[in-house]
Amino acid sequence: MQIVDHFGRKINYLRLSVTDRCNLRCDYCMPEKGVTKLQHRDVLTYEQLCTLAEQSVALGIEKIRITGGEPLVRKGIIPFLETLAKIPGLKQLVLTTNGVLLKQMAGALKQAGVQRLNISLDSLKPDIFKKITRRGDLSKVLDGISAAEAVGFPIKLNMVVMRGINDDEIFDFAKLTLDKPVAVRFIEYMPVIKSRDWQKLVVPGDQVLNQLAQRFPFAPIVKGEACGPAREYKIKGAAGSVGVITPLSGHFCGDCNRIRITCEGMMRTCLFSDHEVDLKPVLTTGHDSDVQDLMRSVIKSKPACHGMTETTSSHNPFTMAQIGG
Ligand code: 5AD
Ligand code: SF4
Repeated sequence: MQIVDHFGRKINYLRLSVTDRCNLRCDYCMPEKGVTKLQHRDVLTYEQLCTLAEQSVALGIEKIRITGGEPLVRKGIIPFLETLAKIPGLKQLVLTTNGVLLKQMAGALKQAGVQRLNISLDSLKPDIFKKITRRGDLSKVLDGISAAEAVGFPIKLNMVVMRGINDDEIFDFAKLTLDKPVAVRFIEYMPVIKSRDWQKLVVPGDQVLNQLAQRFPFAPIVKGEACGPAREYKIKGAAGSVGVITPLSGHFCGDCNRIRITCEGMMRTCLFSDHEVDLKPVLTTGHDSDVQDLMRSVIKSKPACHGMTETTSSHNPFTMAQIGG
């Protein structure tokens, strides 16, 4: 089965959020005081999430990324992942985490059938890490990364580059790829919560690459299909790779293959479109085929592009933890 939207894009990637809760408060994701937490009754049950995953796969989804908030804070996540991993036709089950709970959970995640982890890490300096996350302990995340490596996970590190905050660490992150097979992704800051003067924080991906080029010889990596929006490079002789994700300066909407479902069951076809459709009513009262029909029609309405640039944005502010990063 394959599903293609109005613009000829094959949609095969679902980002499924399992919770809006998080044990950090990253500056770029949430306001300082956090966000009003959803009531338990508003959050989809694991059974409902499984139905959505199964119906998505029936529609043509091949890769599911579990997101949050922080997915590992939701109780019962491991058995849920085990169930997902067994869905026939699902080729990739991956998860995004802030790494805080990985030390305890890496082994169980691997056993459950999760294939890859994306770990958010924006600084290698304990004080800056604490400032960005407003509470995080860097050593816990580093221990978590080691635990994930030890059980054999391929590791991707997501670093949101912010001018004047962590852009002096670009080399240090790139150096991590020299000895270990990690993939470091430098991500352009996106104005999701629209803090004042957000434009000042944006470091365009090309500037990151220029900086790297001054220090390291590197060459582009040719990518296969469904490799996501990163432009990837390898530093000469390095075990891992570096890459930039440029949602603002070089948007990748033309190749976008993804849909999102929030933990409340709201389906979104674009992170920056305010349009969302509530799947819960049909999940509660309908048949599985009704769920599939509704999802199919929502996919057909996926917008061509988000229309955001390095200096302008028109969406209503939101927090990444509500929608899934
Ligand atoms: N800008 C860029 N990336 C973001 N993420 C969350 N909020 C933002 C933002 N404002 C991404 C980060 C984080 C993941 C959960 O989502 O990569 O690691
Ligand atoms: Fe939590 Fe991720 Fe948001 Fe940071 S970016 S507050 S880790 S959900």
